[in-house]
Amino acid sequence: MSTTDNQLRVGMVGYAFMGAAHSQAWRTVNRVFDLPARARMVAVCGRDPGKVADAADRLGWEEHTTDWRELVTRPDIDVVDICTPGDSHAEIALAALAAGKHVLCEKPLANTVAEAREMAAAAATAQASGARSMCGFNYRRVPAVALMRQLVADGRLGQIRHVRASYLQDWIVDPQFPLVWRLQKDQAGSGALGDIGAHIIDLTQYVTGQRIAGVSAVTETFVKERPLPSGSSGLAAQADGAAATGPVTVDDAAIFVARLDGGALATYEATRFATGRKNALRVEINGSLGSVVFDLERLNELEFYDATRPTAEQGFSRILVTESEHPYLSAWWPPGHIIGYEHSFTHQMRDFIEAVAIGVDPSPSFVEALQVQLVLDAVVRSAELGSAWTEVEPTLATVAA
Ligand SMILES: NC(=O)c1ccc[n+]([C@@H]2O[C@H](COP(=O)([O-])OP(=O)(O)OC[C@H]3O[C@@H](n4cnc5c(N)ncnc54)[C@H](O)[C@@H]3O)[C@@H](O)[C@H]2O)c1
Repeated sequence: MSTTDNQLRVGMVGYAFMGAAHSQAWRTVNRVFDLPARARMVAVCGRDPGKVADAADRLGWEEHTTDWRELVTRPDIDVVDICTPGDSHAEIALAALAAGKHVLCEKPLANTVAEAREMAAAAATAQASGARSMCGFNYRRVPAVALMRQLVADGRLGQIRHVRASYLQDWIVDPQFPLVWRLQKDQAGSGALGDIGAHIIDLTQYVTGQRIAGVSAVTETFVKERPLPSGSSGLAAQADGAAATGPVTVDDAAIFVARLDGGALATYEATRFATGRKNALRVEINGSLGSVVFDLERLNELEFYDATRPTAEQGFSRILVTESEHPYLSAWWPPGHIIGYEHSFTHQMRDFIEAVAIGVDPSPSFVEALQVQLVLDAVVRSAELGSAWTEVEPTLATVAA
């Protein structure tokens, strides 16, 4: 499938947190990067007519609709961008792929392995007629993370021995925080595990080029009953003040050890109960020749320890990842003029548009995202079996892009 008049006409479903982040990226990407096609923000979809009209106006969409089925079959839409909770990813993506659209779907790809498999199969079928698909693991597009991957791929770390990954938040420490969709299995699939654990699973597999081969896990739901929310169901929701409560049906925290198929040992921690930690994603990788450390709270930096340097000069050095030769940065500001969270989404759109326009598959593909889903599933099964060692099915020989 080719682009129309060098335009990629986008229709987006969902306009809250990720909808706003994606809109910011679609608005910006053409103006920063020199691309073979221009994104055009044709229509946004939501369930409430008044709110979606406001969102279209605020976020910069030409039109709005309350019917995603109509959106994904419109002849004047080339790309469907899915920014809804996980329970609707499969249905929307399958319909969009069947209609021949390119699809960008937020992570985690689906709520179950069965759905993710169906989506990966549909993406493979659609690919034959030129429709491309990608899952939105945006942290791959932080320049320091992309640099970390380059260093590993260039052999600068030698043999990878350890991966140490954590993603810590604290937004539900208060037991009175309401029962939003992220705390309900039928809508979210899982809790901290699928929401933020999925990011560190993808990021570490991407950076190391190694697949998680098996896991032993513990999970916990610390607060098992919460008040029902008033209107909003986002991260800043309020309880409705009435006495009604409902059960939390997902994990609050998930911790697991893993073996990677290249021989590394790994630890993963994903929690929403790390009091004081707001959105603290940290990854450390230790190899035979060096180590790297990434901390999202300092996303313009990468710590690098090069064990091949003379002993007297060894130590962790802080690389300020803002040079024009660093990934993505030649399009932005002079060295030292730092970037932020939202840039990862702009970079994601850049890579997606470029791949679609030149007719190659963007990464992470739905198959790569299925691999993450298989790990999530193995973690859940291991925790249910008292942390029993649980192999992860090897869907991919490698997850490297
Ligand atoms: N990449 C990231 O860093 C990141 C961060 C947060 C969320 N996410 C993912 O993005 C997705 C959305 O999360 P969010 O934080 O934006 O949630 P949110 O609650 O802020 O927004 C969800 C949006 O989807 C809409 N929606 C829900 N069901 C719908 C339906 N059937 N039809 C049309 N619209 C519908 C809601 O009205 C709302 O606009 C999830 O898959 C989540 O895991 C990714």
